[in-house]
Amino acid sequence: MELATTLKTQSVRTGIRETGINANHWYPVGWSYYLKPGQVMPVKVWNQEIAIYRDVNGQIHALEDYCPHKGVALHLGKVIGENLACRYHGWEFNDEGQCVNIPYFPKGQKLPCAQARKVPSQEKYGLLWVFPGDPALAEQHSPPEVKEYGEPGWLDVAVTAKFDAHFSICNENSMDVFHGFLHENLQGWFDPVLLKLRETEDAVMADYQVSYKGLMPKLLGLTERANEVTTRIASVNYRYPHYYSTLESISALYLMRLPVSPVESRSFALFFFKLPVPNWVLNPLKPSVRFILSRFVLDRFLAQDIQMMESEQRHYLVDPQRRYVEVNPAIIAVQRLIMRQFEKYQAYLEDLKVAGHKEANHRVNPFITVAPDRSETI
Ligand code: FES
Ligand SMILES: [Fe+2]
Repeated sequence: MELATTLKTQSVRTGIRETGINANHWYPVGWSYYLKPGQVMPVKVWNQEIAIYRDVNGQIHALEDYCPHKGVALHLGKVIGENLACRYHGWEFNDEGQCVNIPYFPKGQKLPCAQARKVPSQEKYGLLWVFPGDPALAEQHSPPEVKEYGEPGWLDVAVTAKFDAHFSICNENSMDVFHGFLHENLQGWFDPVLLKLRETEDAVMADYQVSYKGLMPKLLGLTERANEVTTRIASVNYRYPHYYSTLESISALYLMRLPVSPVESRSFALFFFKLPVPNWVLNPLKPSVRFILSRFVLDRFLAQDIQMMESEQRHYLVDPQRRYVEVNPAIIAVQRLIMRQFEKYQAYLEDLKVAGHKEANHRVNPFITVAPDRSETI
């Protein structure tokens, strides 16, 4: 559906900063290189604790981070072959979560029926992904498509970020091209105009016109000279729960979001730049260019954004009832989408419960808050 692009005071959804996630999606939890064979690490998706491990053959697996014996965190244990053994008494669980060995049981004795909950996991684009929702739905979904990944001609730069803020704050920041003001000392963009806005059941897509000037745009090949102004189209897509944006065919940004808790989010970003140099020149320089770009450009942009987002979250917590004024219809569309997805997940759980499915009980998470279904005009 096409939406109006006029900037004016909008209806904001109350409860957006408390809204839970739709767990029936794939979420990134770390970079692949970080988890070596034989290692296990704890990760958290919306306060669900998960132990993810790489077996001795290099395959990754994930189990809920609770030993079915006494509830000890499984990530404290160790990898034995393809299994994960709990640190406390050494009960060993296979990749399906079944207890397959208790070291102090006499040989041949029947093992108790103890099952750790398996969490679907996979590796893609150098990232570790988990599906925290209903495992039966994992195959119907997939991580977002990253078409530039591994393609020649693109310089890829990976950036990790942690925000002490609800994921809605982070997602609004990415959709909000009107905050170029914040980055003016870094030669960010200016004179933004919202040209086009579309909303579907699971996505918000906005086209903005933006202008650039300075040394950075010149280095990225956007302009011939540093004092020249160039005007381009930036397309920003929030396809729940992740982001994809492009600046014509010059750069692309994928922001893979991890909602850790109601007040903490992470982002695993893949930037792609088409630099105005031939591959034979660029390839040997890639490691140094990556380092320079992330250290002196991307991290500095990010630090400015983090300061804003965390300030927004802090003030929300000081007075959750305080009302704010929003004028960008794209932000309101993002809020609507986040709440719609959460409501969809709640309805899904409700259906499971009615059907008497045991998965519904697994999914009861005390940290998921139910956002009030009402809107308010400011
Ligand atoms: S608590 Fe895990 S084996 Fe006993
Ligand atoms: Fe920013």
